[in-house]
Amino acid sequence: KRVGVLISGRGSNLQSLLDAAADPAYPAEIALVISNRPGAYGLQRAKLAGVPTAVIDHKAFPDRESFDAAVDAALRGAGCEIVCLAGFMRIFTPGFAEGWAGRMLNIHPSLLPSFIGLHVQRQAIEAGATIAGCTVHFVTPDLDAGPILAQAAVPVLPDDTEDSLSARILEQEHRLYPAALGWLAAGRVRIVGNRALVDGATA
Ligand code: GRF
Repeated sequence: KRVGVLISGRGSNLQSLLDAAADPAYPAEIALVISNRPGAYGLQRAKLAGVPTAVIDHKAFPDRESFDAAVDAALRGAGCEIVCLAGFMRIFTPGFAEGWAGRMLNIHPSLLPSFIGLHVQRQAIEAGATIAGCTVHFVTPDLDAGPILAQAAVPVLPDDTEDSLSARILEQEHRLYPAALGWLAAGRVRIVGNRALVDGATA
């Protein structure tokens, strides 16, 4: 399956997908990386892996609809069948999300449905949570609320800072996202109501 990855920055999750896709047995191929920020380091990672890149700067568009239409056209032009958001810091219009329903994933650094929005690792510490983690979920028009495909948990330690907890969660993100994309690309995922069911999942 051809996959488009959308980034805004560092791109460490993109790197984990590129590394997984380097294995010929992996069921997904990264066909295009799109950044809404021209300076995103993830663009260099894509280039090093020989993957085509596009910069679609949201500042160049008058509204969300026209930005989303440009992203959509780029993805479809590259023959993408699945979209992965990987640190992509823009919220889509409902129409865009609906156009990719069941085919667009996001990675979020909390155990959803707890802690949505920004600085969710800090939110977890401030809430006194003793377990945190990350979630791969399908993207729907509601922010951070689509069917959950995979989760991984880590402890919150007494001396954790936002940075130390984020690093512990990120290690799990890099393991979880390639696994979850692999299941989707292999056609092993069914969405039943708000649940994503995986045949024979191990992650
Ligand atoms: C990750 O923590 C991801 O879960 C969140 O944004 C961060 C992106 O990091 N949505 P990177 O760009 O993949 O390194």
